[in-house]
Amino acid sequence: MKVISVMNYKGGVGKTTVTANLAGELAFRGYKVLLIDVDPQSSLTFSFIKPDIWERSFSKSKTLKKWFDNIIGDDLLTPLDDFIFDPETVTKILSERGKLSLISSDLGLINVDIGLASKLKGGTVQQMTISFLKNHQWLVKGLKKLESDSLYDFVLIDCPPNFNIVTKNSIVASDYILIPAKPDYLSTLGIDYLCRNVDSLVKEFNKFVKLDEDASYKEIKPEILGVVFTMVQTHRGEPIAALRQYINQTKNLGIPIFTQYIKENKSIFANAPEAGYPIVLKKVSSGLEREIIQGIEQFTTEFIEKIK
Ligand SMILES: Nc1ncnc2c1ncn2[C@@H]1O[C@H](COP(=O)(O)OP(=O)(O)OP(=O)(O)O)[C@@H](O)[C@H]1O
Ligand SMILES: [Mg+2]
Repeated sequence: MKVISVMNYKGGVGKTTVTANLAGELAFRGYKVLLIDVDPQSSLTFSFIKPDIWERSFSKSKTLKKWFDNIIGDDLLTPLDDFIFDPETVTKILSERGKLSLISSDLGLINVDIGLASKLKGGTVQQMTISFLKNHQWLVKGLKKLESDSLYDFVLIDCPPNFNIVTKNSIVASDYILIPAKPDYLSTLGIDYLCRNVDSLVKEFNKFVKLDEDASYKEIKPEILGVVFTMVQTHRGEPIAALRQYINQTKNLGIPIFTQYIKENKSIFANAPEAGYPIVLKKVSSGLEREIIQGIEQFTTEFIEKIK
């Protein structure tokens, strides 16, 4: 089981769209995929399930917030399995192929962060060490059980555009970080900063692992899988000149870049989440759609190759 956090500090760069489509295509190819929505905005959740159904059937029992509430209240690690469901529409479309499951989010996840932050304390170095490791490792522990049961091939975590403790829990639990970015000035500005912050978190975490007298935690080593450019405008099959400079600048940072990118198309992507399944699983109705979908398929192939 490989765990991948999809993240970028910048909002609206296509993180959720990439996560949903990558998951859809992986599941279509027969893989078992678990999606975890750790963003209180819940965009990924509502890309697979209608808000009224979520409210009625899942909001009170099956959200990541509920799972974290047990932790914050009583340090109680309940099995993550109890919070997973298979969204109906996409499951029907996938038919007997792979599997696409979801742990949904909730706006109240904002308070979870405050709750986790308030648990970070300790008088002595050992107490502080234990508190840091414990509160950054909840998701690791939750996922461990799923891994031993071989329930999923991939876990994709859709992160919010921030670096709070829930996001840090996701990074600590990850084998890889995938960074969607728009090829423009502001979107690419933060990529270097993000990679450095991931690096600092890893160093801090591993420092505490070494300090822990009980040696009950393992060091972490999440790898930057790469930047995938999104909303790319093209001309004759190439990104337009205005975008190429930002793609090149990012390459010069020494951060891996996906050769494949996601093309821009407002009319295809704007209302896609309403359907309850990602556009990559849509029956093609125009040449334009085919082009966009092929791009996502090629990106997925590159993703699988990089993970191997
Ligand atoms: N390739 C694309 N072409 C055109 N529009 C797109 C594309 N990808 C995403 N969008 C649109 O851009 C908006 C932001 O996308 P998305 O929600 O995936 O970004 P995000 O990074 O997850 O945002 P947030 O930071 O708020 O979580 C949405 O309205 C989406 O429909
Ligand atoms: Mg999002």
